[in-house]
Amino acid sequence: MTLIAPSILSADFAGLAEQVRLAAEAGADWIHVDVMDGRFVPNITMGFVVVEALKRVTELPLDVHLMIVEPERYVERFVEAGADVVTIHAEATVHVQRTLQMIRAAGAKAGLAVNPATPLDWFDDVWDDLDLALLMSVNPGFGGQRFIHRSFQRLAELRRRRGEAGAKALIEVDGGVGPDNAGELARLGADVLVAGSAVFNDRAPVSENISALRHAIEG
Ligand code: DX5
Ligand code: ZN
Repeated sequence: MTLIAPSILSADFAGLAEQVRLAAEAGADWIHVDVMDGRFVPNITMGFVVVEALKRVTELPLDVHLMIVEPERYVERFVEAGADVVTIHAEATVHVQRTLQMIRAAGAKAGLAVNPATPLDWFDDVWDDLDLALLMSVNPGFGGQRFIHRSFQRLAELRRRRGEAGAKALIEVDGGVGPDNAGELARLGADVLVAGSAVFNDRAPVSENISALRHAIEG
């Protein structure tokens, strides 16, 4: 089964609790929280206080995606704030394995993300320390970007590597995911699909958007 993780980056922040409630009611599995620092990516978003606030209004797991440099300085505080999964970027720290271990020691699931042009080799040495492997299918920084087609191949390759390693980490795809590609991504073995602008937009209600994704996945 492929999980759906709506990214609140595209939600209406003036009514965040309500947006999350609508997503949960419509069957979202996780809530994806994009933390950006204006250094690793050219955008600044949210931090601890938003994670804490979300924790009070939803029982869904909070999937916190850190697009920040030196994430080792902050991972424990994100776990304290209520993150259930904390994902760091391979490109953002010189201490990937140590930071993954810090996340688990703090009591959360540990994730590693890679940008679209970063070799998948990063995963090969850390499967034992990993609960989630996040494949970026856009360059991180903004919602609403177009899916990079080569990500299909990278997903298949990552799936192969995970099998070879006998690892259990979930594979998550993030960026440009919508009803048009969710079926193929699920078929290729994505365990979790992040969707921001495909869930929170002006075109249709959140419930319809999540149903459309669900149908694509099951179709
Ligand atoms: C991009 C973020 C994504 C983003 C996805 O840097 O990591 O989680 O919110 O947005 P969409 O689904 O609109 O590409
Ligand atoms: Zn993300």
